[in-house]
Amino acid sequence: MNHELQGRAAHVAAIRERAEAEMKAMEIDHAFIDRLVETFYGRVLAHPELGPVFDARLAGRWPEHMAKMKSFWSSVAFRSGAYGGKPVQAHLGVANITPGLFPQWLELFAATLDDIAPNGEAKAWFMATAERIAKSLTLSLFYNPALDDPARKPV
Ligand code: HEM
Repeated sequence: MNHELQGRAAHVAAIRERAEAEMKAMEIDHAFIDRLVETFYGRVLAHPELGPVFDARLAGRWPEHMAKMKSFWSSVAFRSGAYGGKPVQAHLGVANITPGLFPQWLELFAATLDDIAPNGEAKAWFMATAERIAKSLTLSLFYNPALDDPARKPV
């Protein structure tokens, strides 16, 4: 391995160690990620607005989706590199996805964390992360300069 590659590997390892320590301090482990994904998507499926939009796309493929979402959240929390997908592309194929569904997704995620997060810091970390990703997905999927009015509420 040359010096540049070694330096890069050390940098990645340092980022991962820091993420692991941060998660440990908030009592977040892999078992919690599994429980969060299972509980949250159970509630998504039962939600009157979100459920049909997810199920129309994922019927017959839910186990794969759950496995993917576990690896996604592990990658975000532990910088594990387990997830290598393309979230924007994946959502482009979802019929009837609208900007107004995102606040509902976030509300359901917050309620799930209220029920199962080990502590307030853990909830705050997952919410801040989900809000950042939701904002970025919303912009990628729906941004339209003609509608870019800060006073306008999502529809
Ligand atoms: C109302 C909002 C949302 C809807 C309706 C939605 C729906 C979906 C659906 C149906 C899929 C499966 C796509 C497929 O495999 O064909 C999917 C995948 C995914 N979603 Fe969402 N989603 C929403 C918001 C979010 C948010 C806020 C996040 C992140 C915090 C997120 C992260 C992901 C990821 C990582 C995948 C897997 C992408 C891949 O295939 O690699 N989604 N979503």
